[in-house]
Amino acid sequence: MHKKLFIPGPTEVRQDILDAQAKPMIGHRMKAFTELYTGLINKLKELLQTEHFVTVPTASGTALMEGAIRNCVNKDVLCCTYGAFSERWFKIAKACDRDADAIALEWGKVVKPEMIEEQLKKKKYEALAVVHNETSTGTRAPIEQIAQVMKRYPDVLLLVDTVSSLMGDKVEIEKLGIDVCLSSSQKCFALPPGLAIGVISERALKKAETVSGKGHYMNFLDIKDYFDKKGQTPTTPAVSLMYALDKQLDKMKAEGMENRYQRHLAMAKYVQEWAKKNFALYPEAGYESVTVSCIKNTKGISVADLNTELGKRGFAISNGYGKIKEETFRIAHMGDLTLDEIKELIKNIDDILKL
Ligand SMILES: Cc1ncc(COP(=O)(O)O)c(C=O)c1O
Repeated sequence: MHKKLFIPGPTEVRQDILDAQAKPMIGHRMKAFTELYTGLINKLKELLQTEHFVTVPTASGTALMEGAIRNCVNKDVLCCTYGAFSERWFKIAKACDRDADAIALEWGKVVKPEMIEEQLKKKKYEALAVVHNETSTGTRAPIEQIAQVMKRYPDVLLLVDTVSSLMGDKVEIEKLGIDVCLSSSQKCFALPPGLAIGVISERALKKAETVSGKGHYMNFLDIKDYFDKKGQTPTTPAVSLMYALDKQLDKMKAEGMENRYQRHLAMAKYVQEWAKKNFALYPEAGYESVTVSCIKNTKGISVADLNTELGKRGFAISNGYGKIKEETFRIAHMGDLTLDEIKELIKNIDDILKL
């Protein structure tokens, strides 16, 4: 039996989207591919309300994290860490031989604008790297307020991982002045894994001209050049996934981005109220994610047993991540899931746990 996925990626993919992948193959140097790819880039720009350069590399989101560092930072980058994925920014920067500093916070907390400003006053950085929605802890960083601070430091690029928030939570890329906004297909896009989505500002592209060690696969300038000249990708893309993305973007447009956001908010509210009543929330109050709830296992339940029972009924939730694996569990409410489906899941958890 298929278990409906309430895990924070890959998320549940609807059958019509899965089916869209089964169209006959085309060559990625054929006109048909140029039409598909330029069409879906235009749809992304429209939905994300951006004129920035948009690209869809065949890779998972982490590749664009590495790309952002390699293209936008020669030496100094400030990373804000408060969970497994924000810590990944720091690790990637170090792995790329950049001089990374971290504003390191306990898991469950999030970085505040004043912490960033304090650090930016002390040292000149080329970029700030943050995670908007920290999937490991279910927290949401106050990106709107962070963006305000960044407007006072126009030479510092803003790199934002929106892997588990873009197309679910609200991310106003241009208004916030985000220079590299990156995401993955398997989260709020509700697609199979395999595509990354990147929105790259003119400022970031200009900076890339001055940066060495950009590498090959994620060289933003080469990717843009190929797109500008041919409307294609430099290397062989995951064409089938792009069929699915193209269809999904039409469905998102039909739903409306504001409606999509409101649906995510309603699901988050429902799960978080239930969690507060029966357990407790892991994130610091006021910074709870809109797309995934990280719940403290205050009752000491066996999450593995709960998931086994849920599995028999056709649902899957997620245990905690990394070092908080035993302490927490997570219910994702992202992608195409509906409030009714969330209610059905919670009803089944109540029934199994006798809450
Ligand atoms: C916030 C965040 N950043 C980065 C990643 C890594 O994305 P990917 O697995 O697509 O490389 C994830 C994956 O769960 C994530 O949740």
